[in-house]
Amino acid sequence: MEQLIKDAWSFAEIQLKNEYSGHDIQHIKRVYRIGESILKKAKCNHLAVKLAIILHDVDDYKVTKIKTDDCIRAREYLNTTNLDNETIEHICYIINNMSFSKKDKKELSYEGMIVQDADRIDALGAVGIARTFQFGGQNNREMYNSFEHFDEKLIKLYDMLNTKEAKEIALPRHEFLMSFYNQFKIEWE
Ligand code: ADP
Ligand code: NI
Repeated sequence: MEQLIKDAWSFAEIQLKNEYSGHDIQHIKRVYRIGESILKKAKCNHLAVKLAIILHDVDDYKVTKIKTDDCIRAREYLNTTNLDNETIEHICYIINNMSFSKKDKKELSYEGMIVQDADRIDALGAVGIARTFQFGGQNNREMYNSFEHFDEKLIKLYDMLNTKEAKEIALPRHEFLMSFYNQFKIEWE
């Protein structure tokens, strides 16, 4: 593995220690593997995609409890590497603009679309369901309150995916999510 990637992993691992909000290092590892699958045939800057994935949650409000529009920690880290400024800016742009909850959205680069797709795929399927209820439990929410997140976000994600490759990977996870969603409603009512 390229040294740059290895070092970024070490950094992210430290930043996301003791994280139980669904943004732990296991989430990053899953998103990274999904990203690699999407990248297989993609002609683009693979390094930017991989680094953006590794660093995409170290500045998340749920992790840092600091409200900011810029990925301060990721940027600070990238500045210690020998990456050129343009690549650093590109990676930070992706991190700053990929979130579902982000207001005034800006258009993502192709690399950014892949990172966003990979992150969203991890919000689907069995793992996506588990993350949602774990998040709710961590925040002392009632079960039904967590379930509302399906309507707010999860059931919409499949249609919002950017790339064909991501749609292929996501389809069984989306279908599983919908079947859970429908069954939950039946049992609740
Ligand atoms: P993004 O970074 O795209 O804005 P979030 O960080 O808000 O996404 O959410 C990541 C995951 O955390 C969600 O896919 C979900 O599993 C969980 N989560 C976030 N917000 C909620 C919520 N209000 N209720 C339940 N789960 C949530
Ligand atoms: Ni994420």
